[in-house]
Amino acid sequence: MTIEHAFDIPFVAALALKEKQIQQNYRPIIAVHKWFARRPGTLFRALALAEFGDRPLRDVFYQANAFPGRQVADPFMGGGTPLIEANRLGCDCQGFDVNPMSAWIVREELAHLDLAAYDAAAAALTGALAVEIDGLYHTDCPTYGETDCPVKYFLWVKEIDCTACGLAFDLFPGYLLAEATRHPLNVLVCPGCGDLNEVADAKHPGACRTCDGRLQLTGPAKRSRCNCPHCGQPNTYPRPAAGPPRHRLFAMEYYNPARKSAHAGRFFKRPDARDLARVATAGARLAALTPTLIPEDAIPRGDETDRLHRWGYRYYRELFNHRQLLALELSARLIAANPEERLRQALATNLSDLLRYQNMLCRYDAMALKSLDIFSVHGFPVGLVQCESNILGIRNDKGGGVGSGGWVNIIDKYRKAKAYCDAPFEVRQVGTRKTLVPIAGEWIGEEREGEPGRSIRLRCASATDLDLPTASLDAVFTDPPYFGNVQYAELMDFCYVWLRRLVGNTPEGFARPSTRSADELTGNITEDRDLTHFAEGLAAVYGHMARALKPGAPLAFTYHHNRIEAYHAVGVAILDAGLNCSASLPCPAEMSGSIHIHGTGSSIVDTVLVCRTTGSTGRRWLFETPEGLARVVAADLALLTAAGRVPTAGDTRCIIFGHLTRMGVWLLRPDWDASRAMRDKVACFAECLAGLGGVDEALKLIEATKVAQPPRSADPEISLQFNDILSF
Ligand SMILES: C[S@@+](CC[C@H](N)C(=O)[O-])C[C@H]1O[C@@H](n2cnc3c(N)ncnc32)[C@H](O)[C@@H]1O
Repeated sequence: MTIEHAFDIPFVAALALKEKQIQQNYRPIIAVHKWFARRPGTLFRALALAEFGDRPLRDVFYQANAFPGRQVADPFMGGGTPLIEANRLGCDCQGFDVNPMSAWIVREELAHLDLAAYDAAAAALTGALAVEIDGLYHTDCPTYGETDCPVKYFLWVKEIDCTACGLAFDLFPGYLLAEATRHPLNVLVCPGCGDLNEVADAKHPGACRTCDGRLQLTGPAKRSRCNCPHCGQPNTYPRPAAGPPRHRLFAMEYYNPARKSAHAGRFFKRPDARDLARVATAGARLAALTPTLIPEDAIPRGDETDRLHRWGYRYYRELFNHRQLLALELSARLIAANPEERLRQALATNLSDLLRYQNMLCRYDAMALKSLDIFSVHGFPVGLVQCESNILGIRNDKGGGVGSGGWVNIIDKYRKAKAYCDAPFEVRQVGTRKTLVPIAGEWIGEEREGEPGRSIRLRCASATDLDLPTASLDAVFTDPPYFGNVQYAELMDFCYVWLRRLVGNTPEGFARPSTRSADELTGNITEDRDLTHFAEGLAAVYGHMARALKPGAPLAFTYHHNRIEAYHAVGVAILDAGLNCSASLPCPAEMSGSIHIHGTGSSIVDTVLVCRTTGSTGRRWLFETPEGLARVVAADLALLTAAGRVPTAGDTRCIIFGHLTRMGVWLLRPDWDASRAMRDKVACFAECLAGLGGVDEALKLIEATKVAQPPRSADPEISLQFNDILSF
């Protein structure tokens, strides 16, 4: 079969939608380490099954499948999703990424791990760390009187000194610490005395129980301005010349195991003298040791990192408080002392991932009552209130983790991820019930006793420079960078500087001081990389892939952008590579609730573009007018609706862009002259798409079509039917 014939839009869309809600439940392997914009594993499994399988997707998806000897490559492997799915299906895999962190992470995902040895090493690490620092994460319970309760989160507010009176004051944007959602009452900080008050009505909170001052929701700090509460002087922030911002500990959420079952809600307190003494102790202990594993690296300028500079951060280590630095240095030392290389690598990966929660850019989610890690958006947002998680983590009496962002959580997630490699599963949803379906016979990795081996070749290299043997690949499945959507290297450097310090320069790519590269195919204003750079790079990569593919084998990739210009580059890259585009398939690939999507009107639907040198496409997919485009897009929208996604205007636009790109390639391919200047080729492609009718016109027509035709059902038969096939 081929993807064009066997891909089942509603079936895959329903799976991908569910997966993206809680991706770790569907693909626990992603918890090995954070990577940005991971696409659904179910989608790439479906693509491989549709291409290599010989039965309908729905029949084989929940069964063990094996395609030994098939050669699959991913030139932009990132977190490894397409490769892992292909490897699980028994294929030989080659993966490339310009970012050294990617190669490290995918190796970690695929490399075998002795789980019993890992458990012992992780327990030894946390045990030894607890001996050193556990006391720094304890507090006394003012409600019931127990001492030494573990702290879940420390909450810090930024403070500045008044330019007039010189006194320090807090930069509270608001005073609501916790909403009455997961906790029975709203928790508000008193602007006058700083005590925590629990109130039923947040809009009319009344007076503070301690100082009788007026409680309020809104804080004084807004749009970089705040009046001094002591003298009324208007002050501005941030103040980069003064160095990194200062923080004051103002609240804590802790855990009282003895009282938890009879206590309604969470435990909050304002820090007492002993808590502040613990902060001071952490600082003194850090000052007393000579750190060897805390990175010294400066933060380079960049589209994302400039925000850090605006806040006065110059070095990565400044993004951490003293307690975090102490605990991270001690953790790293313990890892470095482990004599087993494989275990050192696993624990070093854990430390790198843990950093996401152990820095002073994490925020506290006042509704969910948990820490939001530094990468909950694809940038470095600096808030005014920051959240420090307990680095050890907490276990309840049943052994489960309490809170987020500690070693306990990272180890548990990593263990599940590696256990999944040995025994992968799928999740089948029937009605509201979800069942775990073990896929016995499939596994992830390179070797397994009694099984034929699979080859895995991972390289940290720019895919623009690859030279793979001609006609050697059975498929390329990939998820390229989406022009400027994510600055992978700028973000990943945050982890890389620590990991490199710990594991040294020998892993491939780690000789570089930063993961940044002039070859990275992301638009970047600081580095002067524009759409032309992106189009040229993508064209080079697709050209290498087209030569390496066997005749008629697919290059299938996901794409999504809110601007049509980003599709022009993709269309030109396909044409320059000498490929045709035989299908444009919609598939949800983001979580609608995710913070960087929510409320932005962005699309969560990717287009999967399927390209080949030779093949066939359905005549019903061809169009040359807005009416034709509207007909094709309306059919996709109906299929997505049947899968449970009511497409937004943003989704519809992305689906339109995908089909326009496919048709642009179809129309221009016969006379395409790849030797022209890139700017001319992009302009030519843009002109061709404009000739197919405006997006707005198509949107209007689609609205009309939707009214005229009720949505089609999710019946498998309707997925894709070719009444007429055109070969190319
Ligand atoms: C969208 S991500 C891939 C995400 C991945 N499929 C996943 O699910 O985790 C795109 C990747 O392309 C990589 N990249 C950018 N330019 C590259 C180049 N010239 N060569 C190889 N990889 C590159 C980035 O480092 C990034 O990891």
